[in-house]
Amino acid sequence: MSDEMVKYYKDRAREYEQVYEQRDPRRQEEQDLIRVEMMNFLSGVGVIDIGCGTGYWTQRVSETARSIVGIDINQTVLDIAISKTYRCPTEFKIMDAYRIDYPEKTFRGALASFWLSHVRREDLDGWIEQMHKILKPGARIFISDNTFLEGVGGDLVSKPGDPNTYKLRTLNDGSKHLIVKNYFTKNELLECFSRHTRCVTGENIFHGRCFWWIKYILDN
Ligand SMILES: C[S@@+](CC[C@H](N)C(=O)[O-])C[C@H]1O[C@@H](n2cnc3c(N)ncnc32)[C@H](O)[C@@H]1O
Repeated sequence: MSDEMVKYYKDRAREYEQVYEQRDPRRQEEQDLIRVEMMNFLSGVGVIDIGCGTGYWTQRVSETARSIVGIDINQTVLDIAISKTYRCPTEFKIMDAYRIDYPEKTFRGALASFWLSHVRREDLDGWIEQMHKILKPGARIFISDNTFLEGVGGDLVSKPGDPNTYKLRTLNDGSKHLIVKNYFTKNELLECFSRHTRCVTGENIFHGRCFWWIKYILDN
């Protein structure tokens, strides 16, 4: 992930959760579905929340999880996450999601919300492989992110010869940031995760109007 992306989320910390307050009923409906699905799927397990940000989803998953470790590269977002209350034992650590510093087979659950879209396409396989390594066999994985919606979240930018797409984002202070933001079709998600696990089919993926998610149980 680029330094620009890290800086963008560092500076966006205080205004980040506005993204979950948009008044589009369909968006709110799908957001609520994500909440219910992730709470049910990660119920009773020890979860690593990768790129946890301000703890928005951490807090929701804490309703049902056994325990949670939230990791993020930015202290500014973690400061907000730490200030919240959680319904299960929860701790936060500064950590790079590309160098997760836990032994193999540590966690029974993984959550990555609105993170995968920021991973460069060329880094996707390496990131999934690394994430699987720190999970026990039979671990539960829940990953969600945005679908592409014309006109939402800034202009989409492509660069010649680059498989990634970017969004030009403006923060409340007027600063502009060009960040990696990739959108995946259902087939792309299926192809990508099938390279790492045998247990993913179309049934494991929801691809809605505003959001998608994939949930699966690790087989190896
Ligand atoms: C779109 S936010 C998602 C936050 C949270 N998961 C949510 O859904 O509300 C992406 C998060 O990834 C974090 N991040 C960026 N680069 C990172 C890295 N290399 N390792 C860990 N976290 C990173 C940012 O600080 C930011 O909090």
